[in-house]
Amino acid sequence: MRMDLEQLLKSQGFGSRAECRALVGQGRVRVDGEVCDDADAEFEAERLSFSVDNVLWTYRKVAYLALNKPAGHECSRRPVCHPSVYSLLPRPLVMRGVQAVGRLDQDTTGLLLMTDDGPFIHSYTSPRKLVPKVYEVITRHPVDDAQCAALLGGVELHGEPKRVVASACTLLDERKLRLTVTQGKYHLVKRMIAAAGNRVEGLHRIAIGGFSLPVTLPLGQWMWLESPDLELLAERRGGRVDG
Ligand code: URA
Repeated sequence: MRMDLEQLLKSQGFGSRAECRALVGQGRVRVDGEVCDDADAEFEAERLSFSVDNVLWTYRKVAYLALNKPAGHECSRRPVCHPSVYSLLPRPLVMRGVQAVGRLDQDTTGLLLMTDDGPFIHSYTSPRKLVPKVYEVITRHPVDDAQCAALLGGVELHGEPKRVVASACTLLDERKLRLTVTQGKYHLVKRMIAAAGNRVEGLHRIAIGGFSLPVTLPLGQWMWLESPDLELLAERRGGRVDG
């Protein structure tokens, strides 16, 4: 799609039309490496490379990101006790309306998807869609086969009409297990582990669908998700986690 530079910058979260026009007029925008000071200049937008104040961007009609969420961050835009995960993103991404896909507790770490694609958010948060989410859980007390069996067989949770079942549960260590769940209820893993007679001391999400959080992505950092990542996410068989 062809777009003028002002419209293009606005769509990518660089402010109002007037603010984008001003950025261009001040010579702060480069397209394919060359300063462009004409806000009405038209470009083919798809995958266009541009920079604003020497920070490189690629035009994206919709933005899909994975954040390695650190502890001590809330998934709300208006956090109450801790900084927001949105403070970890560059301002244009927040300005263009990128939102967390579901929520992790403030003390949970790991894979958090973020996007400005509304239908995508719906398809990953709707209770009917049963998207597998894989967590590594550190427990207070040693975990045993009986607790794993209880989680796989289904545990009763206060306020839930049906037993909640883990679709996979693997003991990794004396106090560590890998758990796959398909629902997205409030404090789900903590409540399931409590119902099985233990307690969560640490929770880290490592995969959603078939997409695993790259081990090379440090806590607090984010990455763009490209088409192959989105295809892996869409797999409903549960995280392809090695080991
Ligand atoms: N389950 C929890 O208890 N907390 C999370 O953050 C995610 C899943």
